[in-house]
Order: sequence, then structure tokens, then C-alpha cells
Amino acid sequence: MSIIAKENLSSGLVTFDLEESTKRILAGEKLTAYAIVSTGIELIWVRINIHFGEWYPYLENKLNRSPSWATNFMRWTNLFAGWAKIGKLDKEHPENVIKLRENLTSNQQLTVGFNIDNFWGNKPEQLKELEWLRVGNHWFFVECDKTLGIQEWPPGSGKTYPGRIPGQIAKNVLYYYTKEGDLVVDPMAGGGSTIDACKRLNRQCLAYDINIVREDIKYNDIRQGFPKEAENCDLIFLDPPYHKLLENEYITSSVSSLELDDFLRFLSQLAIDCYKTVKSEGFVSFLCQNFYHKFASLNNGYTNFGIEAYKRFTDAGFELVNEINCPQTSQVYSASDVELAKKQKGMLNLVRDLLIFRKP
Ligand SMILES: C[S@@+](CC[C@H](N)C(=O)[O-])C[C@H]1O[C@@H](n2cnc3c(N)ncnc32)[C@H](O)[C@@H]1O
Repeated sequence: MSIIAKENLSSGLVTFDLEESTKRILAGEKLTAYAIVSTGIELIWVRINIHFGEWYPYLENKLNRSPSWATNFMRWTNLFAGWAKIGKLDKEHPENVIKLRENLTSNQQLTVGFNIDNFWGNKPEQLKELEWLRVGNHWFFVECDKTLGIQEWPPGSGKTYPGRIPGQIAKNVLYYYTKEGDLVVDPMAGGGSTIDACKRLNRQCLAYDINIVREDIKYNDIRQGFPKEAENCDLIFLDPPYHKLLENEYITSSVSSLELDDFLRFLSQLAIDCYKTVKSEGFVSFLCQNFYHKFASLNNGYTNFGIEAYKRFTDAGFELVNEINCPQTSQVYSASDVELAKKQKGMLNLVRDLLIFRKP
């Protein structure tokens, strides 16, 4: 199967040698990894040796490259230094940068106790496990963890569940506000990212929705309140539709079909029901995009759902204990959205807030 000869009209006989191509791919992979790491080392070396304020001008004036371009090289290099057990590459450890640079120069390839497979994504389990954890209150995830939530809905459509969030957000909420064995309730569970996050972190989970797409989600219309079994739970995870933003993608009985006044009344009732359901000292997390028009600056009649939720949940008796930024990536917008935004000065909305309430 390794050598296939094909008749080609313009050049006669063309042969394909699978083994030869495979060898070239693997050799190229090693060279590319080498090039990335050696570029990253030099960037880090400059970064730690010039003054703080000189970095951006250096990138712009000397390299004519963007900060994110440099960050990408440096991130890979740092990961590589970690895997190679060289340690941190920073101002406090300049000797590590030199160590890594010398090692690369002498080997001309990536061999420092390092398995090349790790470089391209098959990362060691312990690194994978920690990647989702955010130590600051800015939880930005470019991609949804593929193991959290259903991958495709409707089946065969190639689309994801409407309004699907990165399950890593749920994981961070669970990490900070619950402990192993706690009961978590998600009344608008969608594709189930919270359920899978709970499984991974050993939390119990009760999940409901009016649109059932998997067996471990039960039917419940949250406008009628929480089912009895949810009472006394430790945390309620709320990710309601961002009002009418995806109205056409949800089923018609979804709260996204409500007019604004009714939607706000729904939030008031939801706050009261959460208060009845979560146990004392338990938490409610509320994720919301502040605008429901995709162009933030064109939104007539601006409604900040974070503020609206704050009023209603504090009126119901909760106290606000944290506010976390969970920005959307611009990838949620199409190329035509971007063009229209530029033309109409309709700044695209990327802001999304996560409010954490505690029942005293
Ligand atoms: C933003 S999505 C949740 C997405 C989910 N967090 C995920 O990652 O897949 C909002 C969900 O609220 C559900 N929903 C809308 N109205 C509802 C209602 N009255 N009762 C229960 N669920 C409702 C929708 O069907 C939708 O699945």
C-alpha cells in the first residue's frame, strides 16, 4: 500500500510513497518545533532584558510584529521549558533561558528529555488537567473543551448547541464555590457542559431544560420553579438565553421569546426561586451577556442584564460576592458581521459577565 502510481495527463506517471511522505512530515515537524522554540527563546531573552515600557515599541519598531505574535512563540517556549524540566523562563531565572538556548544549539533539535508528541497537543495529563483553571477574575477561553457538553446539535448539522459556553467556565465555578460531592443544579442546561464539568470534578448534578438533547437532562420549565429534588442544593448554575440574541435558534417556548418586560419579570421570579432552592451559605452563578444586540454601540435601549440581575438577586436576599469577566471570542462573529461593524461603527459585543451571589 505504500507506493501508489497514478497516471497524470500533464506529467505522465506520478508516484506516491506513503513511507517517504510520513518521514518528511515528521522531520518537518521537528524542524518547525525547533524554529518556534528558538524564536521564542530569543523573544523571552529580549523581554527580560529590556525595560518594561520598551517591549511594545521594540516589537513595533524593530520587528514590526504584534504583541500576540510574540506571545504565541513565548507561550510555546515556556511550555517546552516546563516539559524539558528546565524551569521558569523569566527575569528571576535568566540562567534557564541560557540553558535552554545552549541545549537547542548543541542538538539542533528538540531532544532535551522531551517527547515531541507533547509539543503538538498530546500534553501530559497533569498539564491538561490544570489548563482550565484561572487564578485571576478574567476567564477567557478561546475554545470550548470538547469533552464538556454535546459536540453537535442537531446531529449531523456540524453546528454546536446554541449558546453553548466553554465548559471550563463551569469548571472554574465548581472549583471556587463547591467541594467534592456537593449538589449542583443547572435549570437551563442546554448541551450539558455543566453536567460534564461536574462529572470531571466529582460533584453531583441535576440538570433541566425545556429542550432535551441528552438523557441526563430532565424536562422542567424553570418558569414553574425548581423541582423538589433540587431543594437545598449547594450551587445553582444559571446560563439563561441572552434574551433575544439567539431567539431564532431556541425552541419557541424558550424565555428568549419573551418581550423585555416579561424577560425581566422572569429574572425576578428566577431570583426568588433560586433563594428558595439553594441552601444557606450556598451560591448562585449567573452568566450574562450585557447586550442582546450583537453590535453593542447600535443597541437602542441599552439593557445591562448584569445590573438587572444584580437588582433582582439582591432584592431576593442574596449578596453579590464576585464579578468575573468571561469575554466571548470574536470568533463567534462571522466575517460579514465584522465588515458591517466596521462600516456602521457598530462595535461588536464581546463582554460577558459572571455574577456570583451567596445566600447568607
Ligand atoms: C444559553 S443556553 C444554555 C447553554 C448551556 N450552558 C451549554 O453550555 O450548552 C440556554 C438554555 O436555556 C433553555 N431554556 C430557555 N427557556 C427555558 C425555560 N423556560 N426552562 C428551562 N430551560 C429554558 C434553552 O432551551 C437553552 O438550552
